[in-house]
Amino acid sequence: MKNVVLVGFMGCGKTTVGMRLSYRLKKAVEDTDKRIEREQGMAVSEIFRQYGEGHFRDLETELLQRMCRENVTRIIATGGGLPIREENRELLHRLGHVIYLRIRPETVYERLKDDHTRPLLQGENPQAKIQRLMEERREIYQAAADSVIDVDELTTEEILQKIEDAIKEEE
Ligand code: S3P
Repeated sequence: MKNVVLVGFMGCGKTTVGMRLSYRLKKAVEDTDKRIEREQGMAVSEIFRQYGEGHFRDLETELLQRMCRENVTRIIATGGGLPIREENRELLHRLGHVIYLRIRPETVYERLKDDHTRPLLQGENPQAKIQRLMEERREIYQAAADSVIDVDELTTEEILQKIEDAIKEEE
């Protein structure tokens, strides 16, 4: 089995699905945001605040390069902006089967309207920010993905089943 890589917009469920999939497939899960936080000793929001988004993006690329060298098969839950860089999309493909958890902007807003951990959605009019980022990224996620799953109406269990089907189909 190759690595299973989850990509998609903030709030689409990458972390939750990653953890549940890990349990189901009996493979370790790695969350890129969590690993960066662990290695840097600070929260993602703090990295953005102190060093800016560009620095965070460099940390993401550097982590992916390292993960490509690590000889483990696992589930990888990525940060929502990680596929923006073309280099990162290539690294994701090298890592394994890339699954795009596609979500509608309204669902993101409903899920994240009280969240303060996502620096890109803070401040005035988060709905407009979600809409704009989503438009900028739609094709990027699509380009990064081997499989696409529309998650809005699905339970986590149904998403897991679809992921398993997608992986089997590829084997
Ligand atoms: C980001 C998504 C976040 C985190 C950072 C930037 C983005 O991860 O990496 O706040 O650019 O979409 P989640 O997708 O896990 O929220």
